[in-house]
Amino acid sequence: MVRRFGKVTVLRGVDFALRAGEVHALAGANGSGKSTLVRILSGALRPTEGTVLVAGTPVRLRSPHDGLHLGIATVPQELPLVPSLGVAENLFLGALPRRRGVVAWRELRRRAVGALRSVDPEGRLAPDRPVAELDLADRQLVAIARALLQGARVLLFDEPTSALPGHAAERLLELIRLLRSEGRAIALVSQRLDDITAVADRVSVLRDGCMVAELPGDQARAATLAELMVGHPVHAHHNPVRTRGAGELLSVEDLDPAGRGIPISFGVRPGELLGLAGLPGSGIDELLASLAGRRKATAGRVRLAGQDLTGLGVVRRARLGVAYVSGDRRREGIVPNATVAENLTLALTSRASLRPLRRAPLVERVAGVLRDLDVKPNDPTALAGTLSGGNQQKLVVGRWLLAGARLWLLADPTRGVDVHARADIHRLLRHQVAEGGAAVMTSSELAELLEVCDRILVVHRGALVAEVDPSQTSEHDLLALVGGAEPARERSL
Ligand SMILES: Nc1ncnc2c1ncn2[C@@H]1O[C@H](COP(=O)(O)OP(=O)(O)OP(=O)(O)O)[C@@H](O)[C@H]1O
Ligand SMILES: [Mg+2]
Repeated sequence: MVRRFGKVTVLRGVDFALRAGEVHALAGANGSGKSTLVRILSGALRPTEGTVLVAGTPVRLRSPHDGLHLGIATVPQELPLVPSLGVAENLFLGALPRRRGVVAWRELRRRAVGALRSVDPEGRLAPDRPVAELDLADRQLVAIARALLQGARVLLFDEPTSALPGHAAERLLELIRLLRSEGRAIALVSQRLDDITAVADRVSVLRDGCMVAELPGDQARAATLAELMVGHPVHAHHNPVRTRGAGELLSVEDLDPAGRGIPISFGVRPGELLGLAGLPGSGIDELLASLAGRRKATAGRVRLAGQDLTGLGVVRRARLGVAYVSGDRRREGIVPNATVAENLTLALTSRASLRPLRRAPLVERVAGVLRDLDVKPNDPTALAGTLSGGNQQKLVVGRWLLAGARLWLLADPTRGVDVHARADIHRLLRHQVAEGGAAVMTSSELAELLEVCDRILVVHRGALVAEVDPSQTSEHDLLALVGGAEPARERSL
């Protein structure tokens, strides 16, 4: 299989096979060609050279519809569901049961319950719930149930767990095992290497569009895969810089971010990287958003280096050096039709006052950020929309690296970014923070918080319930705290 975009060759002579009853994982650095391969297999994209065979027969897939017709379904990140309609209607969209021309509701409901059983054995998903009310994990389940209803024998998952919190990711992996046991063929693309090692029967590694390795699942360890992805040994590096500096850079006093009537207080010192751990709905997202000025807290104060930010909106906080970086790049401002350089500098005009000391010409700084983050292609004139998912995410972070910031607010900032680029981002953040800044971050992976943060606050149902020292805490313990376990006395606030 070969795929070119203009002069750029993205897949070079790639072979990839899926067997019934098997999970075949695909690993590779950001931009190595994984999504391109998946899109070809699904019919969304045509190969420049090469053929897709289904059960030994060459097929020509002109659209995902063609793919589905042959039993091949994709579970993409952007789920093609209709939010305003209910779960049941979404399941049978285009094939609603009818009686005398109108939707047969009772029949629809009955069939929906049956269809949901395969993906949701506990029956948590009510067929009448509007899809808009469901979280990402549940919307994914609906999308999978729909694919199964449409007769999917081959399921292609592209980064299904990257935005899911731990327990939901676990549940999805469990479902993937179940689908495998039913004899379906499954492709799993993931930057979460532990997910791959947990379920894959076979793992293939793409590097710069070439298939460089294939190993049995039981021999694929995360460290091995990380090494194969870049082609040389990787040295785990630790953060040499630790919290320093006196006083607080950020002071949060009795803040009530979501009107729950639960006041939150904490401080962050200069040089410190603070983690916020909590389940979806715990309130960490609202907390971060209200620190950024994107949301009005109902009570309390926020100070940055003594200056009161409380009444200020996003723009004025940004001018004072407050950066908000989100892993949700589609919502948080990558402009696909603008170039990489434009995307990196878009917000800069209003924030140019942040770091007047940086005198290097903008063009050089853009080149520097692209190099630091290893953005592929390393081309400031490429359209951002043509970059791979992980590389687009690097632009979101890069934009702020360019502007400079004093306080970094990071909402799951490395979602979908490969392990190597992730380490780069961590290192650069460290560097920024070490110059007297501070950072507060959340992550859908608790392991990431444990790895990079100096200190972690645990939020449960809107309340600050524990403070932990990452060097003394296991992921298991943190998970328990996040889930509402009583903290041991020495950990409690
Ligand atoms: N329409 C396009 N025009 C030009 N280049 C493209 C286009 N689509 C993809 N590419 C390039 O193809 C390469 C592979 O992209 P792909 O999305 O397959 O990567 P990936 O392995 O899925 O990465 P990630 O882990 O970041 O999602 C990238 O360098 C990307 O810029
Ligand atoms: Mg991709």
